[in-house]
Amino acid sequence: MKIYAHRGASGTFPENTLAAFEEAARLDIHGVEFDVHLTKDGELVVIHDETIDRTSDGVGYVKDLTLAELRTFDYGIWFGSEFAGQTIPTLEEVLAVFQQTTHHINIELKSDIFPYEGMGEKVLQVIEKMGMAERVVISSFDHEAVREFKKLAPHIEVAILTLEVLVDAYDYARFIPADALHIFLPTAMRKMAKEALVKGAILRVYTVNDIENAMALQKIGVHAIFTDYPERMKQALEVGTV
Ligand code: G3P
Ligand code: MG
Repeated sequence: MKIYAHRGASGTFPENTLAAFEEAARLDIHGVEFDVHLTKDGELVVIHDETIDRTSDGVGYVKDLTLAELRTFDYGIWFGSEFAGQTIPTLEEVLAVFQQTTHHINIELKSDIFPYEGMGEKVLQVIEKMGMAERVVISSFDHEAVREFKKLAPHIEVAILTLEVLVDAYDYARFIPADALHIFLPTAMRKMAKEALVKGAILRVYTVNDIENAMALQKIGVHAIFTDYPERMKQALEVGTV
């Protein structure tokens, strides 16, 4: 079972910062996941929430601030004073961290709350510029965005993100069409996941920070997990004990 660092190595570094991504890049793990929003001046930035309130010393919606304005705040100090000075990275800056590694890159489009007009096209341009199309998977809770991205770039893997239990999840994913399902941990032991696996779905599960859960998922054939503690999880899975 493969391991993705969720929002970078976000259990030990401030999420979605270059510090968290440099740590993920250093680790011998399969991949990394992070979240993308669009600024007021149309720049792609990597941050989880629609606002900067929780993960910076500023306030406001990403969509209402320019990149220059967003860069006046600190995105590390909330996590620990030793991380002071971390800024909000652009998509291109994050991809650059992984340019010399083999990590699989999961870019989550956070367009489910605000539609972010033209985001898919911009993300595609950056991926192509960085030459990373063959090792990217685009995911979103916004399944319209997943469908549109697949239309734009059929050669790039896409995945639907789900929070709830679905009936016939595999068939729904094929209908979008999506190449993989990224599902919420509490739904991963339900019929939904087992049926999808039997039908041949690629199934990845978020967010798994507990080794007992990880081992149970490994047993049923889940392809990958997203975890905030990639190093710890890798060591525990290799040893194979709880
Ligand atoms: O992409 C998996 C996971 O990151 C989805 O949830 O809220 O952590 O972005 P969230
Ligand atoms: Mg995410």
